[in-house]
Amino acid sequence: MSETAKSRVLVIGGTKGAGLLIARLLHERGFHVRVLARDPARAAAELGASFEVIAGDLTRADTLAPAVAQVDHIIFTAGAPSGRYAPESLVKATDYQGVADTLAAARQAGLAGRFVYLNSIGVATPSLAGALLNLLKRNTLVWRRRVEEDIRASGLDYTIIRVGFLLDRPGGEHAVIAGQDALALAPRHRIARADVAEAFVEAMQHPSASRVTFEIVWGKGPRRKSWSALFEKLKPDQRSPATR
Ligand SMILES: NC(=O)c1ccc[n+]([C@@H]2O[C@H](COP(=O)([O-])OP(=O)(O)OC[C@H]3O[C@@H](n4cnc5c(N)ncnc54)[C@H](OP(=O)(O)O)[C@@H]3O)[C@@H](O)[C@H]2O)c1
Repeated sequence: MSETAKSRVLVIGGTKGAGLLIARLLHERGFHVRVLARDPARAAAELGASFEVIAGDLTRADTLAPAVAQVDHIIFTAGAPSGRYAPESLVKATDYQGVADTLAAARQAGLAGRFVYLNSIGVATPSLAGALLNLLKRNTLVWRRRVEEDIRASGLDYTIIRVGFLLDRPGGEHAVIAGQDALALAPRHRIARADVAEAFVEAMQHPSASRVTFEIVWGKGPRRKSWSALFEKLKPDQRSPATR
């Protein structure tokens, strides 16, 4: 086990979906995993005793300082609930202010490692699917684009990974494209949560993924390239976020 593999990682969003898979994969690889949970009893039952569960809520900034204390990296996958109506007040509180407050708490705590943020494709390119999503989860893509600027300006080391439509399918079976083309939101751009989990754990530790924004979706055929080969082709973000 490498020195890095003994690090403590906070997963915000680690109680469900992609975040839960990330938490489990980190644990499998020997990391100490802390998960922020609105319902700590439910999270502890789901995760088991070898995970550290800490009570907290993104909409209550005072709960974030204890969560980020003494962690080496933060992976953030939380978001306003998908697939149902969410008013803009909830979307802004979760998808924007919750991230901004986490960044502030992390800076205050002196986070030395990386802040790895899960975003959605489509934040930079309009589309019909994006417009429909913004109607359901009010302006989520607007707030999620804005929060990228806060992350880039935070002074923290970071990786922003925009993901396509998420599927509950096995990982490792499809080629993965890691690109920087600002894909529009569309059902054909999809990827398994299990592949997303691998991408996050690998990116968190990879030097080429530092201060980089990229997108991951399935490509054609089976997986052939290593994550390292994918990350090495990425270009670091420009200082001005308006170019992305
Ligand atoms: N579904 C898609 O196709 C798609 C595509 C692109 C991006 N995304 C984004 O990808 C991420 C993961 O999606 P998913 O479907 O795998 O997981 P998910 O079921 O949407 O899980 C969301 C997570 O966010 C947490 N959360 C929400 N509000 C919170 C708050 N106020 N404080 C603390 N935690 C909070 C939830 O915690 P609780 O357990 O307490 O509810 C849960 O762990 C989400 O941000 C989603 O918007 C989804």
